[in-house]
Amino acid sequence: MIEGTKMAKVAFVGLGVMGYPMAGHLAAKGHDVTVYNRSPAKAEAWVKAHKGSKASTPRSAAEGAEIVFCCVGNDDDLRSVVLGEDGIFAGMASGAILVDHTTASADVARELDGLARDQGLHFIDAPVSGGQAGAENGVLTVMCGGEQASFDRIKPVADCFSRAVTLMGPAGSGQLTKMVNQIAIAGLVQGLSEAMNFGQKANLDMAKVIDVISKGAAGSWQMENRGSTMCEGKFDFGFAVDWMRKDLGICFEEAQRNGARLPVTHLIDQFYAQVQGRGGKRWDTSSLVHLLQND
Ligand SMILES: NC(=O)c1ccc[n+]([C@@H]2O[C@H](COP(=O)([O-])OP(=O)(O)OC[C@H]3O[C@@H](n4cnc5c(N)ncnc54)[C@H](OP(=O)(O)O)[C@@H]3O)[C@@H](O)[C@H]2O)c1
Repeated sequence: MIEGTKMAKVAFVGLGVMGYPMAGHLAAKGHDVTVYNRSPAKAEAWVKAHKGSKASTPRSAAEGAEIVFCCVGNDDDLRSVVLGEDGIFAGMASGAILVDHTTASADVARELDGLARDQGLHFIDAPVSGGQAGAENGVLTVMCGGEQASFDRIKPVADCFSRAVTLMGPAGSGQLTKMVNQIAIAGLVQGLSEAMNFGQKANLDMAKVIDVISKGAAGSWQMENRGSTMCEGKFDFGFAVDWMRKDLGICFEEAQRNGARLPVTHLIDQFYAQVQGRGGKRWDTSSLVHLLQND
């Protein structure tokens, strides 16, 4: 961080649904941002819309940055932008920090943390919750794994696009926390789907039902924000079924190691596979109700 100004030279790799607006918040708050995206069109659009520059490789984006943020798809995507000759690590200066916002495995987080240490670099796994709207409005929840000293350096910068940035423990702890989040959401969305579908079949006024019960013990963010759109069969609200299945796969692998039983989560993963089979790969996760409404 530049002393006195609190502005940092940063890079952002991966300008997808999440990364594009997150990088935008960093630039809007005055940080010196260099972006990289695999498909150049998104990086070109980003530099037209924001103050900042673009690089032609992850390595060149990372050169000279105090903090490199990254948000790509899965473990393999992450390795492909971080490692190798043109990867982020090859460009980072000693002491710089990589903050990874991808939802990935705790294993890959520990692997990259180890490789970073070998090179005098720092790594923080920092998956997010809050979806596309959270990224666009700069109110994400960020769950971090890593060392306190690195966390203290990145937190004021990550605050630009976040409502809460919390250190959960050593490397991998952010990803483990995100797994808890995804397991909790999977069951909740299925329960909500069954409730909404039941209410519709009972010919109730669902707007009224949601208004009444969302104030009681069954209320949830999902009910308030997705209940009525689920009843209308609208599934165009960000977090895609493909991503959810990727996340649940990560949870199942971790559960095999730690011995946690996930019977309901396994069942819901099968329901999501059925949604994919109906062409719903990019539908949002509330589309579980589609199976009930259309069978
Ligand atoms: N969307 C949500 O609501 C949400 C919420 C919480 C967490 N997440 C997590 O955040 C991550 C990103 O999600 P998103 O919705 O932003 O995804 P997205 O819109 O599909 O964007 C993915 C980004 O990663 C890049 N990328 C993927 N594979 C790559 C590779 N092998 N090499 C280089 N770049 C690669 C893509 O580049 P191209 O443009 O070239 O394809 C794109 O910039 C995922 O791990 C997701 O699970 C998403």
